[in-house]
Amino acid sequence: MRRTPPSRLRFALIGCGAMGSHALRSAKSDRRLDLVACADRDASRLKRVQKEYGFPAVGHWRDLLEREDVDLFYIATPNRTHREIAVEFLRRGRNVLLEKPMAASVADCAAIMRAWRRRRPFFQLGFECRYSIAYLRLKKLVASGALGEIRHYHLLYSPGIWFQWLEQKNGWKYRARESGGMVAEKISHYLDLFTWFSGSRIREVHTLFPGNVIRHFEVMDNFHLNFRADSGAVGAISFFFSRAPVNRMDGTLHGPSHEDASAGFQLSLIGTKGAAYFDLHKKTISVTDYGYERKKTFAPRRTMFLDFGKQRFDRPGDFNHASHPEILDACARAAAGRPPAVDPEDSYHIMKVCFAAERSARLRRGVRVN
Ligand SMILES: NC(=O)c1ccc[n+]([C@@H]2O[C@H](COP(=O)([O-])OP(=O)(O)OC[C@H]3O[C@@H](n4cnc5c(N)ncnc54)[C@H](O)[C@@H]3O)[C@@H](O)[C@H]2O)c1
Repeated sequence: MRRTPPSRLRFALIGCGAMGSHALRSAKSDRRLDLVACADRDASRLKRVQKEYGFPAVGHWRDLLEREDVDLFYIATPNRTHREIAVEFLRRGRNVLLEKPMAASVADCAAIMRAWRRRRPFFQLGFECRYSIAYLRLKKLVASGALGEIRHYHLLYSPGIWFQWLEQKNGWKYRARESGGMVAEKISHYLDLFTWFSGSRIREVHTLFPGNVIRHFEVMDNFHLNFRADSGAVGAISFFFSRAPVNRMDGTLHGPSHEDASAGFQLSLIGTKGAAYFDLHKKTISVTDYGYERKKTFAPRRTMFLDFGKQRFDRPGDFNHASHPEILDACARAAAGRPPAVDPEDSYHIMKVCFAAERSARLRRGVRVN
């Protein structure tokens, strides 16, 4: 039911770690947001949050379940904990923004979906790339019809900034049971982007995995993930950790830029009328038109070149990962009784694709996703 939203958007944060601290900064810097409570199982972290930001803190998230003064519960705890926490909020009909991935296994995602389907409160999975300046521009380009129908999606992804994972020997992200695997943890965003751009669900995945080079990782540190969607479009995602170290735990860069450290993120969208190429680190989008509409023959020409590196943004982080606009939008939607920006059933399908991709690597064959 639609309601008149309150003058400020009231949310509660569960999990005040790396991702949660973005929400803390958002609430601190934006008067539209009212962070009414924070929960974390780490008492010393909560104390620090309270001291640094001044937001009210509670110890256990269960103490928030019945709070009437909260429009949205933002869950940003490790993946393994999502099932228990999300199920409790959703089955009570509470509004939830849940960090991606939905959970650390298909069974846990299914339990969350069962809880949601009982009362269907607001439920959005944190695919925050949908709010990013760069991907919104690509989405607009695809929606304009300039590329025609998307036939091929190609991503080369060699992250550098997570090189610190290598040094965090006790990190939960590289433990398979806790994170659900690298595809769910890191690649789910980019499988979601394909579906968002193309409007088509992925049906087949085939992951080629040669074994890890980083020995203490339980999750895949390098792979090629190929897929085919209902529309017939295909995709290929090549993933491996940076070819050179980017940052140390003390925050200093080994090289002056991601490029110097050989980190890479290049996305190509190949359509039936034209193609787009996005380079995240160079901050450029270039678009080619094949010429069939103009010349009635194959006469490729660059029709657009956007250099975001020359633009100033109020929030530079929103260029790629945009948690601030995501929280604002999700809070506004939940408070007004509007549907989520990401359909829960679509996000569940993406999660099934992620776990099928992990299975495919183990089975050494393609896997269908129903
Ligand atoms: N959208 C993105 O691009 C993005 C980026 C990073 C992380 N994430 C996601 O955000 C979530 C959190 O990741 P992170 O990097 O912030 O992890 P983190 O380890 O830095 O922080 C997790 C926090 O949750 C707390 N916590 C753990 N178990 C808890 C429980 N049972 N109850 C309450 N608090 C608990 C921890 O004490 C810690 O403060 C994960 O799901 C991760 O995949 C998303």
